[in-house]
Amino acid sequence: MRGIKIIGTGMYVPETAADNNWFSTILDTNDEWIYSRTGIRERRISTDKPNYYMAVQAANAAIADSGIDPAEIDLILAATCSPDFFYPALSCLVQHYIGAVNAAAFDINSACTGFINALDTASRFLEDGDYRNILIVASERLAPHCDYTDRTASILFGDGAGAAVVTKGDKPMWSYLSAKGDPFNALYCKVDQSRSNCPLLKEDSEVSKFIDTEAKTHFMQMNGKAVYKFAVDAMNTAVTKVLERAKLIKENIDLYIPHQANARIIEAAVKSLGLPPEKVYVNLENHGNTSSACIPTALAELSQQGRIKDGMTICMVGFGAGLTSGAIVYSQ
Ligand code: COA
Repeated sequence: MRGIKIIGTGMYVPETAADNNWFSTILDTNDEWIYSRTGIRERRISTDKPNYYMAVQAANAAIADSGIDPAEIDLILAATCSPDFFYPALSCLVQHYIGAVNAAAFDINSACTGFINALDTASRFLEDGDYRNILIVASERLAPHCDYTDRTASILFGDGAGAAVVTKGDKPMWSYLSAKGDPFNALYCKVDQSRSNCPLLKEDSEVSKFIDTEAKTHFMQMNGKAVYKFAVDAMNTAVTKVLERAKLIKENIDLYIPHQANARIIEAAVKSLGLPPEKVYVNLENHGNTSSACIPTALAELSQQGRIKDGMTICMVGFGAGLTSGAIVYSQ
């Protein structure tokens, strides 16, 4: 039986807050439009610290909360789609800076679904008994990749990190993971290879085929309407499938933690699934969409508020670029 227990959570958000009024000083937008269309009032921006700095802060907080020593961590899984380096992996930087001298480490990139995929992976590593304590850290510094002349996308995203220490639990868990690569260009960020000095390289015609915006293709590109529709459907499907697998009904779940993309996406899915809104945690007003960091940040906040209790059954659901989606049900 696959089971997990989250024994510690932690989070970090940068000090600098960019509220909707700040956006109205750089773009043709305003607080009323942004809040009514997204539910977001402000998001944090890591102005001068790299992604790994945030990841390390969140990881240290989760380890302190768990009460274990960093040397007892056997594996670090880092979820990110905005690393500071192609290599080494973010997880290796975390391993070094937290002193997890006995841990293996690798990264998972499935954008906003990263924490769900990492938690599912962790549960499978915990199965065979070789790995006892796994640190999952999801951390995103999205600001360098957003186009701050694009009022549709840049207003949505924020920087931050969340982490969880996970051990094998004695209650079953279930997961549903999905990827739909077909409409991948609904949300993408191309690697900038324009500085290559290899004389043999020509224009990257395979990649240029699907890039529809001439300028700034190294910034995040998003088809807002397509992603919105995908997100509502994906949240619906993932929750329905994971409940089916768990042989549970929606009333059996004590708490739903969705990816925090847009309040309207969450509201639409919650309505069509028939979930009681009071069981659905939403914190995007102050964070915006921090991609893979949304769900573990929510876990850390809920835990700090004393709202996660032993025996609770929790459903987490993520969706994002790829396009990927997934949900996990576990009992704490
Ligand atoms: N401020 C003011 N006006 C804005 C604006 C902003 N920040 N962004 C877009 N607009 C304008 C558009 O230019 C358009 O104007 P027009 O009618 O004159 O052309 C109008 O508002 C409507 O734009 P539209 O794209 O239809 O808005 P929308 O209601 O679909 O909301 C999003 C746009 C991006 C908020 C919404 O599509 C969304 O949330 N999509 C999902 C994005 C997401 O979650 N991505 C991450 C997934 S993990």
